[in-house]
Amino acid sequence: MDEKEDPRNGDHVTKKPKLLKLSISDPEFLLGSEFSHHQPGTARINNGSFGCCPESIIAAQRTWQLRFLKQPDHFYFSTLRPNLSKSRAVVKTLINASDLDEISLVDNATTAAAIVLQQVGRRFSHVNDTVVMFHCAFPAIKKSIQAYVTRAGASVIEVRLPFPVNSDSEIIAEFRKGLSKAKSNGGKVRLAIIDHITSMPSVLVPVRELVEICREQGVDQVFVDAAHAIGSVPIDVQEIGADFYVSNLYKWFFAPPSVAFLYCRKSNSSSSAMHHPVVSHEYGNGLPIESSWIGTRDYSPQLVIPTIIEFVNRFEGGIEGIMARNHEQVVKMGKMLAESWGTSLGSPPEMCASMIMVALPSKLCVTSDDDAFSLRTHLREKYKVEVPIYYRPPCEDDGEKEPRDKDGFWRIIKFARCFRPNEKVGSYRSSLPSNDVCVSPVADTCGLTKFKNNRILEDTNG
Ligand SMILES: Cc1ncc(COP(=O)(O)O)c(C=O)c1O
Repeated sequence: MDEKEDPRNGDHVTKKPKLLKLSISDPEFLLGSEFSHHQPGTARINNGSFGCCPESIIAAQRTWQLRFLKQPDHFYFSTLRPNLSKSRAVVKTLINASDLDEISLVDNATTAAAIVLQQVGRRFSHVNDTVVMFHCAFPAIKKSIQAYVTRAGASVIEVRLPFPVNSDSEIIAEFRKGLSKAKSNGGKVRLAIIDHITSMPSVLVPVRELVEICREQGVDQVFVDAAHAIGSVPIDVQEIGADFYVSNLYKWFFAPPSVAFLYCRKSNSSSSAMHHPVVSHEYGNGLPIESSWIGTRDYSPQLVIPTIIEFVNRFEGGIEGIMARNHEQVVKMGKMLAESWGTSLGSPPEMCASMIMVALPSKLCVTSDDDAFSLRTHLREKYKVEVPIYYRPPCEDDGEKEPRDKDGFWRIIKFARCFRPNEKVGSYRSSLPSNDVCVSPVADTCGLTKFKNNRILEDTNG
């Protein structure tokens, strides 16, 4: 049955969502109450992993959960589907999709990748069929390729993202090289996977230009992994022109865990071959409907999307204002730290959105993944600072040299700024280690000093 004819969809399918315009007089006060459930005294600067959901959205989620529990059958037959359609309509407007049927709501980017890659895997027919992607594609996406695509006989070409990266043109040049390599043995590039914002290193990728190159080069299908994009950068899926585009709403768009949208371009010939990996009785009714019922479960994260619009619209400039403020703040913070430590940023500010990379001072001797993990754990346990820290070895095959600060090699720390109260730039600086002493004016109370060989050798506070 056509989605528009199914009575369970109500008459909301084609209606545009009503966006409320509220004004607030004291944003800091509002933010204080909206995030009062956060652990006090903890500087959560890792918004990129799990996002942050404000109190008013949690309350709206609870209301949806209770509506279901009150009369589940009525909820299932009359309430769920029309309201999921409202949420999808909000996403459609936000990303400038041309049709509501292009939008499906799924749990997360990993689920979306499974949907896309299962479909791609079924299309592989020849040993020279290839997938092209960045070497720093998210590990779960790489594993999905292994599970669904290479198992079907495909080969994979990994494009190295230059690091530190200086310009879009460097990325474009590497990507072109990757495509040529993939086609060199008469291979057919069945799929290109392009990150919109890579996770580690964290770089805003010129996705529209790369999709255009894929079209010129006859790539079959293009999947954009934009897990971090919505709420971080403006999205126009028609302008980007990819076949599939996924973004998590729980990271930068204030949704509760866990919800993401998957856009599938209607003109893509395989849109009818897309299926949710969890097969329910809606199988065969189109991906948006399959995704709207994957068995009995909590659908409340998907239902609160219109309330999120009300939330973001309380702030000056709505979500665009929040994105601009996050970017401005994260750049300010990154520059301050790099300057304090005598290191550098991992990319020019214009190549980052709400996350920034700052090199750690070499004197911390972070020389392995284990060192990075120990430092991160120590910062959490001792200083209540939650920040991703990565060790990145140079790629010697490519003749890459380790970047240096005045004392030696440097490593990466990644910050993700989000619009939240009680987390002042100065507190990040005071809690983080630099060389042998903290850079903060309260260095003597910080205690953290040296890391070497995966162990903290010295802690000045004993
Ligand atoms: C670039 C990228 N892709 C995919 C994912 C996976 O997201 P999820 O855990 O929501 O499936 C992440 C998670 O951080 C990511 O950074």
